[in-house]
Amino acid sequence: MEIVIVQSQEQAGKLVADTVAALLKRKTDPVLGVATGSSPGAVYKELARRVEAGELSLRHAKAFMLDEYVGLSEEHPQRYRVVIDREFVEPTDIDPANVSGPEGTARDLVEACADYERQIHAAGGVDLQILGIGTDGHIAFNEPGSSLASRTRLKTLTRQTRQDNARFFGGDIEAVPKHCLTQGVGTLMEADHLVLLAFGQPKAEAVHHMVEGPVSAMWPATALQFHPHVTVLLDESAASRL
Ligand code: GLP
Repeated sequence: MEIVIVQSQEQAGKLVADTVAALLKRKTDPVLGVATGSSPGAVYKELARRVEAGELSLRHAKAFMLDEYVGLSEEHPQRYRVVIDREFVEPTDIDPANVSGPEGTARDLVEACADYERQIHAAGGVDLQILGIGTDGHIAFNEPGSSLASRTRLKTLTRQTRQDNARFFGGDIEAVPKHCLTQGVGTLMEADHLVLLAFGQPKAEAVHHMVEGPVSAMWPATALQFHPHVTVLLDESAASRL
């Protein structure tokens, strides 16, 4: 695991955009893994800036999302596909048809999960996966207790995660869905390169477990210790317990 302490989220955004740029030079059909949450915000802003400046293009890229809420309408502003469209797809030149996520509105959620696994496989897997981390150590929506070999599936969100995410729902925990579809730990561990971003004191404990703790399903991010190519970008506060 490579740990990089950054001075600002903007600096992290530039470093990850450099990594994306290198991937785009190396591969004609690059596949990105995109995360929601506030942590990757500066990455998407920097990618948008470089696209706008003509410094890079995502025209030939595909992207797969990590997870999706179950039960939000197609146009709900916090539906992850809507968030990714707003923060990543629309400000860049990636083709929206090349961006996929688990179908949280599907009638058959089990089949939707199996189908999502097939889509990722058919694209040749993810080259570069951008990740955040929950305060309870979840990655994507793999909550504590998730199997470290898990695949895309239906999960129940913990109260902690719903509390953390209530800020996106007007501060009302009851407005946060109780269920989601998420890539499994086993699914996202198949990406070639994982880049995890964490900022702020509330992430310090989870970061400490991820980097220095024993591997345990109770801290799902500890699975990353088994991955051969992980870059962790932290500010001083998120790194304060290392
Ligand atoms: C959500 C997402 C995760 C994300 C986490 C942290 O639960 N499903 O993918 O990593 O939030 O979010 P933030 O970056 O806003 O702290």
